[in-house]
Amino acid sequence: MKSGFLDKLIERLGRIGPEDVQNYLLQLAQEKGLIETVFNAIQEGIIVTDANGRITYVNEAACELFGLEADTSIGKRLDERVRGLDWKSLSQSQGAVSRDMEIFYPANRFLNFYIVPLLIERRESVAEIDDPGHTAEPVGHAIILRDITESRRSTEKTIESERFNALTLLAAGVAHEIGNPLNSLHIHLQLMERKVRKLDGKVKEELQEAIAISRAEITRLDSIVTQFLQAIRPSKPVLHPENVNSIVEEALRFFAPEIADRDIVVEPELRPDLPLIEVDRDQMKQAFYNVIKNSFEAMKRRGILRIHTDMDATHVNVSFTDTGGGMSAESLSRVFEPYFTTKSSGSGLGLLIVRRIVREHGGEMAIESNEGKGLTLTIRLPYLDKRVRMLEAGSSKPD
Ligand SMILES: Nc1ncnc2c1ncn2[C@@H]1O[C@H](COP(=O)(O)OP(=O)(O)O)[C@@H](O)[C@H]1O
Ligand SMILES: [Mg+2]
Repeated sequence: MKSGFLDKLIERLGRIGPEDVQNYLLQLAQEKGLIETVFNAIQEGIIVTDANGRITYVNEAACELFGLEADTSIGKRLDERVRGLDWKSLSQSQGAVSRDMEIFYPANRFLNFYIVPLLIERRESVAEIDDPGHTAEPVGHAIILRDITESRRSTEKTIESERFNALTLLAAGVAHEIGNPLNSLHIHLQLMERKVRKLDGKVKEELQEAIAISRAEITRLDSIVTQFLQAIRPSKPVLHPENVNSIVEEALRFFAPEIADRDIVVEPELRPDLPLIEVDRDQMKQAFYNVIKNSFEAMKRRGILRIHTDMDATHVNVSFTDTGGGMSAESLSRVFEPYFTTKSSGSGLGLLIVRRIVREHGGEMAIESNEGKGLTLTIRLPYLDKRVRMLEAGSSKPD
């Protein structure tokens, strides 16, 4: 980096008297201050090292990204401060190197690490200024760090949705075709049932049992197909102001027989003063239903499901906490993959549908699993209209 002021200073170096030195030093200090202010104001992390890889400068953004403290880092080797950094290969190149890296401390983020060797033309004395023969000497490296976490996540999302599209297009056709024969099977079973009623004795009993089993299987197939079609043919939500508590209660009503049959206690803790939020009632009911169903399936015969509704400044939160043993870290990482299931008769689409519905409502969901104990799934739904948020004075967090 060349500075006009510095160049002039060097040119005049032989001619300045001792009284000028103070002024020049003052001006130099001011320029340094300005550059530091600028470097601290920019979003990118900046680190400068000397030829031995020791940190000579680090700006605030870099400190934040790497969890460093400027005061205690100056003079220390960068690869000692940032463990796991492959400094050797990064610093060997003669030219600039750009590498993406994932960091785990202080937060899990993806960074683009751009490193350039710094070369300075050494001058033995002022007299050599115009001598073109001098050589450049490596004096260290400048590093620019850019946080690419968000863009990476959205790329992942695109890949995920493209893979999903290709898969589902094919499967949607198949699922649709399955619907018609299922209907016809259902009708024929009804006819058989009527005829069987006229029979007597053991044969009647056996046939009735066989028909009941077939019916249950058809219902199961039908629900898989319905769920599947819901997952892949998302309809735009039709929004009305609704009370989330009443949707929770409605979703719970479907489970009355299971609650009575098994040793499962449902503890609703519904905050009475929740604001109404714009939701598609049927879709949200479906989302809650899927979540509750998973909890019931995880708890099998006994357990406690706590459903807690609450609010903060911007969102209504609905959390479902069960005592069903939770999931392993491996399952948790795959839970939104289409068709991922650990159940022999699962579709692996339930949570995918939940996430789609929640996202379409501008919300988010989080899963916290305590393996061996249970799981908490939280759905966050915004209750402040976007336009209102934009008008709010002093709100600096856009979304
Ligand atoms: N409350 C829960 N407790 C433990 N595991 C769960 C829970 N909810 C979901 N899971 C895990 O996530 C997987 C995917 O769930 P889901 O998408 O609803 O599909 P499915 O229920 O058909 O398997 C389940 O198979 C199960 O392993
Ligand atoms: Mg499920």
